[in-house]
Amino acid sequence: MAFNKARFITSAPKLSDCPPESLPEICFAGRSNVGKSSIINKITNRKRLARTSNTPGKTQQMNYYEIDDSFYLVDLPGFGYAKVPKKERDRWGRDIQNYLLKRNTLHLVLHLVDSRHPPSKLDEEFFYWLGSNQKPFAILLTKADKISNNKLRSSLAAIRKILEEMNIDVPVIPCSAQSGKGIEEIRSLILEFTDQ
Ligand code: GTP
Ligand code: MG
Repeated sequence: MAFNKARFITSAPKLSDCPPESLPEICFAGRSNVGKSSIINKITNRKRLARTSNTPGKTQQMNYYEIDDSFYLVDLPGFGYAKVPKKERDRWGRDIQNYLLKRNTLHLVLHLVDSRHPPSKLDEEFFYWLGSNQKPFAILLTKADKISNNKLRSSLAAIRKILEEMNIDVPVIPCSAQSGKGIEEIRSLILEFTDQ
C-alpha cells in the first residue's frame, strides 16, 4: 500500500544542501501559515512528521521526507510573511526560485492557497511564474473545513477564472488537513507524478 513509510531525511537551506538527485520529488509551496506542513502530515497519516504552528514562518528550510523508499515530499518555507525582514524574504525568494528552476528531479509543484481568501498578488505572480517556466503544478485550496460548500464553490470558480485568463490549465483540489477532504485525490496526483 502506498504512503506506508515516511521518514525525515534532511533540512536544506538552499539547492546545494539538497540530497543527491536520486528520487523523484514533489514540493509544497505557498504563503506562510497556508497549511503546507499540516497537509504533508495528513497525506502521510502522521501527526508530527512535519512541524506545524499557529505562528506563520514555522518552516524555515526545505524539509525532505522520503516516502515508501520511492520519492520525496519537500516542505518549503512559506513566502510573503511580513514579519520576516525584507532582506531575508529576498534571499528566500532567490533560494527557492533557484531550487524550483534547477532541481532536475522535481516532478510537480503543489501550490497551496487558502480557500477562505482570494489569491493574493504574490499567489497570482507565482501561478504566472510557474506557468511561464513550464513547471508542472497543481493548486490545493486549503482549510476547506473552515468554509461552507457554497463559499468553497465560489473560491474555486474565482481561482479557475484567474487561471483561465492566464491560459493555464492545471488541477485545483479543495482539501482539508482536518477533515481529510481531497487527500485521496492529492495522493493519486503524487503517485501519478512520481511514476508509481
Ligand atoms: P509555515 O511553515 O509557516 O510556512 O506554515 P505552513 O504553511 O506549513 O502551515 P501549518 O501547516 O503550520 O499550519 C498553520 C496553521 O493552520 C496551524 O495552526 C494548523 O493547525 C492550521 N491548519 C492547517 N491546515 C488546516 C486545515 O485544513 N484546517 C484547519 N481548520 N486548520 C488548518
Ligand atoms: Mg510549515
